[in-house]
Parts: sequence; structure tokens; C-alpha cells
Amino acid sequence: MTKIGIDAMSFYVPHRYIALSELAEHHGIDPGKFSRGIGQEKIAMPGADEDIVTMAAEAAQVLIDDHGAEGIDTVLFATETGIDQSKAAGIYVHRLLNLPENCRAVELKQACYSATAALQMACGHVARKPTARVLVIASDVARYDRDTSGEPTQGAAAVAMLVCANPGLMEIDPETGCHTEDIMDFWRPNYRRTPLFDGKYSALRYLDAVLSTWRDYQANGGRRYEDLTRFCYHLPFSRMGEKAHRHLAKHAGAKPDAAAASDGMTYARQVGNCYAASLYLSLISTLETSQDDLTDQAIGLFSYGSGAVAEFFSGRIVAGYRDRLYTARHADLLQHRDAVSYSGYTELWERVDPRDGTAVTLPKQSRGQFRLAGFNEHQRLYVKD
Ligand code: COA
Repeated sequence: MTKIGIDAMSFYVPHRYIALSELAEHHGIDPGKFSRGIGQEKIAMPGADEDIVTMAAEAAQVLIDDHGAEGIDTVLFATETGIDQSKAAGIYVHRLLNLPENCRAVELKQACYSATAALQMACGHVARKPTARVLVIASDVARYDRDTSGEPTQGAAAVAMLVCANPGLMEIDPETGCHTEDIMDFWRPNYRRTPLFDGKYSALRYLDAVLSTWRDYQANGGRRYEDLTRFCYHLPFSRMGEKAHRHLAKHAGAKPDAAAASDGMTYARQVGNCYAASLYLSLISTLETSQDDLTDQAIGLFSYGSGAVAEFFSGRIVAGYRDRLYTARHADLLQHRDAVSYSGYTELWERVDPRDGTAVTLPKQSRGQFRLAGFNEHQRLYVKD
């Protein structure tokens, strides 16, 4: 059977962040609550001229530069922080990247899970048409109300992946385990900028979904626990992944091995939650920060989107994978960022896009090549510098 999976992947993160130590100081609480209690260090913050489209284009452009656009016939854009109720954000990205016109572009939503649906659909499409390539993008701005328990778990980033036959990075196994249940652990009505949520309840449902999807994965012929050498989790905050991994190991009767999941948390601690992109940032983090050669190793992945839909699946790392990573570029993005003060953070947080259709020009602030140059007549004006 033809192997199908991820040929290359990259991420983008805005260049501003607030350190959680700064947030802790403002709230007068022990910074250890954030660094150890939830396992986070920084919250990435987009500027006025950055959003899910510009981050997505930045993440995807490097893949197009290195692997070309030929054969890309589908763009699947996964997000829960969409910028339009009707038009897919992927259409802007399609134009910014100069992708072929004979291509479809759609947006997928199911909280933090939708990129996994996109990846599985991309694999299905390539199975039917092995010459096709699919650009899967996950891009989100995770924003919670200030002064709530969710505030330290904000963040922003985009991950782009090229999916094709005989991939160079990771072959995705066809066996998966799924779980859907109608619950209200986190949701965002159309009229709200920020979600309503019950973090503790959500964490419990997440842990239950780990086991539920694992059982279904096993029932569908998935790999044994001991055959998976690394685990990647959706990380609303990195301690969630630690708890999930212990929970799964216990259920599988294995000795908890924190190291099997820890490489996947390195980037998340520096970025914060990035919703749909989170699991895939964890996968990049695992591949780029693991000291071990992961060639031929099998990795387990757990995707969770509140509401809720979850999936456990797996894949095998392909020989030569290290040559296809963007380790130096990503390290550079993470290291060369500017810390903002608490007041700088509130300024970025409070900013809202104009709603009256007037023309607004935004000065260039982002460090990327794509930006939101302004608004006019209720339209968002994206440019490539
Ligand atoms: N040093 C070290 N650890 C500390 C600490 C300190 N000074 N103070 C508190 N902690 C620990 C607590 O013991 C707790 O650990 P535990 O989880 O092992 O019990 C942890 O820090 C969190 O503190 P707690 O007071 O229990 O939680 P909170 O009310 O601040 O809320 C979340 C934490 C994660 C629930 C909250 O940030 C949240 O709701 N985030 C949104 C997550 C979400 O909904 N995601 C969407 C679904 S995936």
C-alpha cells in the first residue's frame, strides 16, 4: 500500500511575547504556579498587522520555497479564530503563496481538533489521487479574558504541513481512534471575542478522551503502547500533556516515561496555546529537539478539541527526516523575540479591528514578509512585502 503522510512541516510565531513571570508579578502570585504548575513560560502575541492569515502564509511560504507548489490541489485551513463567517482564510493564503488556480481551499473548525481532521482528510484525498499534494495549515490566536484562570494559557502560532504520497518526514498510519461527545467545556459564541470555559472540567474530559480514543485505536488495530517511542499531545498548557501521558501509561500498564513526551513540550512552553496548531507544534518540537535519531520510530499523537472531538493516531518517522526540518529557522524565530511589559500586553490585547468599514492603514510592525496592511470597506487587505 502507498505510504501517505507529512512531507515537510514548519511553524511561525509572532515576534512579541509576554513572559508569564511578568503576568505573575502583575497578579501578585508565585511565578512557579505558571512555570511549574501549568508548565508555561511565555505567551506569543500577534501585533496589529498579524493574524491567522499572515502567520499561516509565513509558515507555509518556506515549504513552497523548498518544495514548490506543483500538484497542490487542496488547501485545508484549520482554525477556531476565523476572521470571516463566510470566506475561508485559506483563500487569502492561496493568493499570497501564488498557488495554482486549479486548487480548492476551505476552512475547517472544531476547536483545537480541526487540523487533525484536515490531516486525515488530506491523507484520504492523496490515497484517491496519489499525485496530489495537500497544504494543511493550522493557525490560531488563543485569547482568554484577562484576569481569568485561562489568561496564562494564551498564545498564537501557525503550523503548515505538506501531505503527499511517499512523504519525507512521517508516514501516517491508517489506524486511528476517535471520540465525539456533546459537552460544554469550552466554546465561543459568534458574538464573543473570547471563549467561555470550565478549565478543570475540560481537563477531566481531555483525560477521559485520551483513554476513549486509545481504546478505539487499539480496537482498530493500532500499534501497541510499547511500540510507540514518542508521544505528542494537544497542549493547552504543557502540564496537561504530562498528566495525559501519565494517565495513558497507567492505563496501558506501562511505567510512566515522562521523557517520551517531554521533547514535544519544549516549543509549547515558549509559545503558549495555539489551539489547532498545538499538537503539530508538539510534533515539530519532538522532531527538532529530540537528541535521539527517530528514524523508523513510531510516534503516538493525541488530538483534542473541546466540545468535544478527540483522536489518537500514529505515524512512522522516515529515514532522512532531519534534512527536511527547519530546526535553525525555528530556533531563530523563538530566540529573537521581544518581551512586552504588562501594559504593552494589555494594549495588544485590547486592540480590536475596525467594524465600520472605514479605510485604515496599518504601519508595518511584523517581522515577516506577509502582513495585514489595513482595512477598507469591511475588507482585510493582505500584502507580501
Ligand atoms: N508552584 C507550583 N505549582 C503551583 C503553584 C506554585 N506556586 N501554585 C499552584 N500550582 C499548581 C497547582 O497545584 C495545580 O497543579 P495540579 O494541576 O497538579 O493540581 C496547577 O498549578 C494549576 O493551579 P490551579 O490553581 O489548580 O488552577 P487554576 O485555577 O489556575 O487553573 C487551568 C488552571 C489550567 C485549569 C486554567 O489555566 C485554565 O482553565 N486554562 C484553560 C485551559 C482550557 O480550557 N483549555 C481548553 C481545553 S483543552
